[in-house]
Amino acid sequence: MCGIVGYIGSKKVSPILIQGLTRLEYRGYDSAGIAVIEGNKIEVKKDKGRVNNLYSLDGIDDLKGTIGIAHTRWATHGKPSKENSHPHMDNDKIFAVVHNGIIENYNELREKLIEKGYEFISQTDTEVIPNLINYYYKEDNEKDNLKLLRAVKNTCMDLKGSFALEIISIREPDNMIVVRKDSPLVIGKGNGENYIASDIPAILSYTKDFYFLNDYEFAYLSRDNVKFYDTNLNEIKKITKSIEWDSKGAEKAGYEHFMLKEIYEQPKAIRETIGTRLNNSKICFDELNFTKEYLESVNKIYIVACGTAMHAGLVAKNMFEKLCKIQTEVDIASEFRYRDPLIDNKTLAIFISQSGETADTIAALKLAKSKGAKTIAISNVIGSSITREADNTIYTHAGPEIAVASTKAYTAQITILSLIALYCADILRRADIIKIEEIKQDLLKLPAKASKVLKNVEEIKKFAKRVYKEKDMFFLGRGVDYSASLEGSLKLKEISYIHSEGYASGELKHGPIALIDTGITVIATITDKALVEKSISNVQEVITRGAKILLITNQNLENKGFETIINIPEVATELSPVLSIIPLQLLAYYISKEKGLDVDKPRNLAKSVTVE
Ligand code: AGP
Repeated sequence: MCGIVGYIGSKKVSPILIQGLTRLEYRGYDSAGIAVIEGNKIEVKKDKGRVNNLYSLDGIDDLKGTIGIAHTRWATHGKPSKENSHPHMDNDKIFAVVHNGIIENYNELREKLIEKGYEFISQTDTEVIPNLINYYYKEDNEKDNLKLLRAVKNTCMDLKGSFALEIISIREPDNMIVVRKDSPLVIGKGNGENYIASDIPAILSYTKDFYFLNDYEFAYLSRDNVKFYDTNLNEIKKITKSIEWDSKGAEKAGYEHFMLKEIYEQPKAIRETIGTRLNNSKICFDELNFTKEYLESVNKIYIVACGTAMHAGLVAKNMFEKLCKIQTEVDIASEFRYRDPLIDNKTLAIFISQSGETADTIAALKLAKSKGAKTIAISNVIGSSITREADNTIYTHAGPEIAVASTKAYTAQITILSLIALYCADILRRADIIKIEEIKQDLLKLPAKASKVLKNVEEIKKFAKRVYKEKDMFFLGRGVDYSASLEGSLKLKEISYIHSEGYASGELKHGPIALIDTGITVIATITDKALVEKSISNVQEVITRGAKILLITNQNLENKGFETIINIPEVATELSPVLSIIPLQLLAYYISKEKGLDVDKPRNLAKSVTVE
């Protein structure tokens, strides 16, 4: 979503802040800014545009201050602009704040502050925070030295939603206050200086000693000290934790492989991809701004991508057709670009690419555009090549995906595609609004449900140990479970080098069932309530021919000859691949690990296929 950085010490703060922001660039940005205490005032330098643009802002080099805060924003509510970029100040220019998160009740707070005479410059939720601090600070007649801390605490008690905040004030020019609730924030302890950031890698080059805040814990920083307080402003003791990572280690956050880290980052990737877009059942895509008239003119949607990204598209097809009643075709980019697809200005073409650099997908986008289609790019890398070709770009916020095998990007892609389908469905009103609402609510539950699936890893590890020497495997599913099976099969192939096929359960008996022999491993996924009986009978067909079954399901099925059952939480069928894929990702990972292969860099592969 956004990245925040802070520093309090004796070095010139502006270069430290800007460098920290560039290391948080993956959190997305289209506007950035810093605020520095300069004598008895706060200087704010901010604008729309990339982090590096800060170097060219007037007066940036004249900043001498050694205390400051900084922010890199990726806009969803309130377009990218100078006014909407952070830091934000109160009307009296006494406080400056940077914020990562969502203030869900900001409209209500804004109205209250306007009634008290405050004015607002931006459309952001964040701007209520410095003005609330201003209000509570002025109301406070205590004569102790906790006035600023009390004003911040009282403000936080009014906020609903998520926040990681850094606050500086000319009332206490030698201090900084930070606090978090749900959004990430770490404090790096230096010698006569302290650092703050959204994540460890952004400041690991300065220190290895970190404080970690729990929700609603306040840190009151000076150059030489950090004090901690709870919501009753009782001081609490904290000790630093030493993070013995090198820079690569920092990126792996302690995991043995990037792939495992990225599998476990999926709840966060889903949460941050949803971000501020879905609030009180309203979906916001300022970047698209579709009208009912335009959407009613669309007679076909193409979803075009390669590999895992294409598999995410297959899941989305189901939603666009069911919820928007628009014919949706999913195609492999390398095929699409050479088959002269039927496209005109009534075609909406969506191109999915984690890296945003896949040659086939970019070429396919250019072709669609040349034929008059409106084009949308879905990418995980800000400013990547594909984003410069598309009419519109929608970013996933999965964070950097380093492992060649794509995992969190896949679940984030399904998340953002679901949001776009629901956004269009709300405008078109062609589907059952109860169904639409059910999917919205289930979307918001995905991060917690994904975390639950990730806890159930031991059975997967055991199964991997039993099957890692196999030469062939089948992945079976119907409907959305077929899409997930294709992705599960790709994961296994690309990192364990075991041949496997994702197959439509109902299609097996039309030939490939001849390959089923005693002991062959079949991984079946059954999550679609409407297809349970048929899917079970397909699985029975292979069991009678000697297959060993791993079943992934959320239907509480009786064990009828399955070797292993992995039960996952139930969710709207349209979204179930976001959860059912996780055991399949973990299975591929542990099989590859069991075989002693290079999980993160499998042979013959590259993270981004920039050639045809
Ligand atoms: C997935 O695990 C593979 N690394 C590969 O299929 C990948 O999804 C494909 O090359 C597309 O990459 P992109 O999303 O960056 O365009």
